[in-house]
Amino acid sequence: MSQFLFVTDLDNTLVGDDDALERLNQQLSQHRQTYGTKIVYSTGRSLTLYQELTREHTLLEPDILIAGVGTEIYLNGSQTPDRSWSDKLAVGWDRELIVSTTAHFADLVPQPETEQCPFKVSFFLTEDAAIPVLSLLRTLLMQKGLSIQLIYSTGRDLDIVPRRANKGLAMSFVRQNLGFDPSQTIACGDSGNDIALFSLNEAHGIIVGNAHPELLTWHHEHPSETRYVAKGHCAAGILEGLQYFNFL
Ligand code: GLC
Ligand code: MG
Repeated sequence: MSQFLFVTDLDNTLVGDDDALERLNQQLSQHRQTYGTKIVYSTGRSLTLYQELTREHTLLEPDILIAGVGTEIYLNGSQTPDRSWSDKLAVGWDRELIVSTTAHFADLVPQPETEQCPFKVSFFLTEDAAIPVLSLLRTLLMQKGLSIQLIYSTGRDLDIVPRRANKGLAMSFVRQNLGFDPSQTIACGDSGNDIALFSLNEAHGIIVGNAHPELLTWHHEHPSETRYVAKGHCAAGILEGLQYFNFL
């Protein structure tokens, strides 16, 4: 047994089965104490909605919180996002221009104010409307010279974020800063915004058994020997994967 970097999505990955979560928490907490394993949460939620989740479920205090789909990194319980990461994202980012461009699309329904972050503009978008709207919107934003990416998750949520920010790039930044090798890193997820955690191939991957078709389809098109699709759902799937890769 040795230390590893544990990176996990929250909704429907770590959180979703409280009994399994309690078992996983106990093992991770012990591993952190004994071997210095680091725990990183990577969520689409803002800090506000993350804090709401911590009031509803028993979560271990993470060493690092990555919020807003990789756009904000909070170190050691800080309430202020890490400046060295935000500074990288500010280059070529024009929030106003994104907001005014998206205003022409009736299918884009703005998410609540808490989820509109400095480097993330978020909407609800139905699955039926998604294909035509996403391609048109991408073309329009590119034509305006904006350096952005569109991330669509759970057939419902659209996030527009800087090209340099997603869960994978934020994980890479954290991993390098903490000095972990990809072979000592493991990432877990269930939906579209987690694809970036797996696509860089900088970590072992666990896809939980309850994953959305958008992630499973991507996985089947981009198979990898270091990615495991669990049978168990949520934290039970994570435990299964950690044992499969001999991290626990
Ligand atoms: C979380 C966020 C939301 C985002 C979604 C997908 O639900 O609150 O803003 O769109 O994750 O990334
Ligand atoms: Mg999720």
